[in-house]
Amino acid sequence: MNFPITRMRRLRSNGTLRRMVRETALSVDQLILPLFVVPGERVRREVSSMPGVFQLSMDEAVKTAEEAHHAGVPAVILFGIPPEKDATGSGSRAADGIVQRAVRALKETVPTLQVITDVCLCEYTDHGHCGVLLPDGTVDNDATLELLAEEALSHAEAGADMVAPSDMMDGRVGAIRDALDGGGFDSIPILAYSAKFSSAFYGPFRDAAESTPRSGDRKAYQMDPANRLEALREVELDIAEGADMVMVKPALSYLDVIREVRDNFLLPVVAYNVSGEYSLVKAAAERGWVDGEAVAREILLSIRRAGADLIITYFAREACDWLG
Ligand code: PBG
Repeated sequence: MNFPITRMRRLRSNGTLRRMVRETALSVDQLILPLFVVPGERVRREVSSMPGVFQLSMDEAVKTAEEAHHAGVPAVILFGIPPEKDATGSGSRAADGIVQRAVRALKETVPTLQVITDVCLCEYTDHGHCGVLLPDGTVDNDATLELLAEEALSHAEAGADMVAPSDMMDGRVGAIRDALDGGGFDSIPILAYSAKFSSAFYGPFRDAAESTPRSGDRKAYQMDPANRLEALREVELDIAEGADMVMVKPALSYLDVIREVRDNFLLPVVAYNVSGEYSLVKAAAERGWVDGEAVAREILLSIRRAGADLIITYFAREACDWLG
């Protein structure tokens, strides 16, 4: 069975044959584009640490989403930056909040676009944490659940197709499922950020979403990057609470976790190719150190090969051009 009888190169000899034996496919159908919505009109402000990514007012977000959908992007995930922040993040659950209005506008203009909303408090709280604080400055898990449930319900009422809790509070998937079902939204799926690690790769996102915690960090609720078994437990619990899809985030430093989740569970696995992963590629490409497009393609393919069904990525729109 060995050389010279076996020659691995036989099946690599030309492009058509390589296409036939390719094991992993990457398609625009699997990509979800994040959008950052800010107050105002005709605002299109590039995020300095994320070239090609913009904070968009609602009118601009609609245009961007419409164009991306036309190019092939099936879904967006929305993040809102409210005009005012407070201790409990009340802008997150207001019927006329930034995300709620953006959802309505998007569903009206681009009805076939799947609109997913990020459910979290960090963009809406003046302290920048993902929940409400106890007097000692730690996040109050159980008091936060109610607020997240209200936020998710308000997104569904605005017309969101799916909600995606990213806060990492214990019990939030169940609380959100109850609230959605109670409000008549039993057919709205939950995409749970299940294995969300406390990662330095979120740096540029916090510029984009203006959500850097004013003090402390998120280590008391987001996962320790060293832990894989705990990630599987997180996924298992979210599924038990009613998650319809589970997420691993970030993607690149956690490809092993994506693979294990894929091998151990039966529902769709989503990977978040996060802001820092995007910005590293853009920065190196700007300097001419790497071929940005080729590197991005290889990254997205590797995330698929690791077992992700869907990928949330800032490359989603440009990928439509390369993937055709
Ligand atoms: C909010 C949230 C974060 C990201 C998605 N939702 C940031 C964080 O937890 O600090 C990060 C996404 C990215 O880096 O692209 N909780």
